[in-house]
Amino acid sequence: MQFPEYRPRRLRRTESLRRLVRETRLSTDGFIYPIFVRPGNEPKPIASMPGQSQVSVDGAVKLAEECWKLGVPAVILFGVPDDAQKDAVGSYAWNEDGLVQRACRAIKKAVPELTVMLDACFDEYTTHGHCGVVTDGDVDNDATLENLGRVALSFAHAGCDVVAPSGMMDGFVGYTRESLDEEGFENIAIMAYSAKYASCFYGPFREAAGTASQFGHRKTYQMDPANGHEAIREVDLDVGEGADIIMVKPALAYLDVIARVHDEVDLPIAAYNVSGEYAMLKAAAERGWIDHDRAVLETLTSIRRAGADMILTYHALEAARLLAKAGTAR
Ligand code: PBG
Repeated sequence: MQFPEYRPRRLRRTESLRRLVRETRLSTDGFIYPIFVRPGNEPKPIASMPGQSQVSVDGAVKLAEECWKLGVPAVILFGVPDDAQKDAVGSYAWNEDGLVQRACRAIKKAVPELTVMLDACFDEYTTHGHCGVVTDGDVDNDATLENLGRVALSFAHAGCDVVAPSGMMDGFVGYTRESLDEEGFENIAIMAYSAKYASCFYGPFREAAGTASQFGHRKTYQMDPANGHEAIREVDLDVGEGADIIMVKPALAYLDVIARVHDEVDLPIAAYNVSGEYAMLKAAAERGWIDHDRAVLETLTSIRRAGADMILTYHALEAARLLAKAGTAR
């Protein structure tokens, strides 16, 4: 069928027609809200991420309750410890009484149905800011895996629903699965940061979590932004090692990668709408250069359209409010 018999504009004529033929429906169901937990009682605003703060354990519970009320089904927790708690290997990451472990217990008590995901990495806890044990100036893969097993178990003991290994170590998913299963935690799911790129878009997060590396860079473990096929290889490995959810990170500069992974893999896919993506949108909106609310919803819709089932996003709460206001799932 061709013009003039076929006229695509017929189905764009009214809002109710547009609603009927809308291919991607954005809802809070896929949102995962990241929370930064700090020691003490006071929240600390994150300058480069307007609207976001590091919060106390109690503050994390409040945010979790707000998520549940607004229909956001999951949170992911990051710890921001004091410098005194950091060491060369990041041992605070597996402290049974650590920040995220305590926050997880408290959230599970207050909002038992909310899914709590814990990010298993070391950069928040190491003095050098890298994602593992450093030997001869580079992150030592296998030494880091052993510690990852410890972290996964401390998370399981804290009652989390999902462990999310994020360090891009080879074999990290299999190691996490084995560590959990050996101790009887076969029901805890693994969300694998499978295709995580060495991206500049993590800049604001590193301020938020105090994880700027003291030397070098992360290109020996995070992926080269130029590579697409390699993402599929990484994903295949993680699927083989027992991942339950596959993640692509960041989201916006990697929508093609999300789409490819969606075509090739039948596991649920998560995309991380990272700190730099959030900061860019906020900065442009502050200057009046884009319409903030529309930009938030268009951004999240594009990530869903590319093929992500869920989105880790700092916009989760405000987007949930916008969707509620709009009255219809978009
Ligand atoms: C690493 C980690 C990163 C983010 C979360 N955990 C990336 C990094 O610093 O290399 C980025 C999240 C964001 O930018 O929103 N443990």
